[in-house]
Amino acid sequence: MSGDAQQNLVVVPDRAALSRQAADRFVAASSAAIGERGAFTVALSGGSTPRDLFRLLAERPWRDEVNWSRTQVFWGDERCVPPDHPDSNFRLARETLLERIPLLASNIHRMRAELADRSAAAAEYEDELARALPRDASQCPSFDLMLLGLGADGHTASLLPGSKLLDERERLVAVTDLEREGTIRLTVTPPMLQHATCLLFLVSGADKAPAVRAVLNGPFEVERYPAQLVRQASGEVVWLADAAAAVDPDGAGQS
Ligand code: 6PG
Repeated sequence: MSGDAQQNLVVVPDRAALSRQAADRFVAASSAAIGERGAFTVALSGGSTPRDLFRLLAERPWRDEVNWSRTQVFWGDERCVPPDHPDSNFRLARETLLERIPLLASNIHRMRAELADRSAAAAEYEDELARALPRDASQCPSFDLMLLGLGADGHTASLLPGSKLLDERERLVAVTDLEREGTIRLTVTPPMLQHATCLLFLVSGADKAPAVRAVLNGPFEVERYPAQLVRQASGEVVWLADAAAAVDPDGAGQS
């Protein structure tokens, strides 16, 4: 099934505007969840794009507009490296955000991807999600907000082209069967993307433009473009892209 979830593309002029708009949406999602349920659960993305967003969330006005005492922070994926390694997604968030906001350590749910037994680490995180997240109508643990990136090859989280995990519908967290940049990772699996309340993609740079077009407008080829999995999402899907990433390969801007 190719799915028919609406994909909302929002094009902003540049990376700075992307980060500001993402920070505004983060605040709005937190206010909605806390207003409705008294809690806000968010999965952070990795890579380099969210760095400026994390910095903004630690600064006024955004810092003061999030009720951090009601916020639970998770990750969508993590590289199998120690948490202080330069490639660690946790380290990126710790240095740019977590150390600079009033968030209790107990509200930070780190993937222990450095463990030698990676399958055990994946199972441990799946138990954490099952324990700490509310469940949607289909009884699947559900994030209020998932921040996601898009690779130039069309991957998202660590769901990579050709991965067997693209067909995973039972497990919620798994060890990747493929390496990326020489690293095995832990990643949430398709059900976690497809049952989140809101998916917010942050995409910046001309190198991502072909993937944006293929994922949003191309034929359904999820093996080739894993981010197309969100066509089957039950929640809101918002693509925040700067102008460079939204230009279609033959040069016209995305409509
Ligand atoms: C990771 C991310 C990955 C990332 C994209 C985009 O751990 O690398 O989860 O999915 O979001 O590869 O990365 P950039 O933001 O660096 O372009």
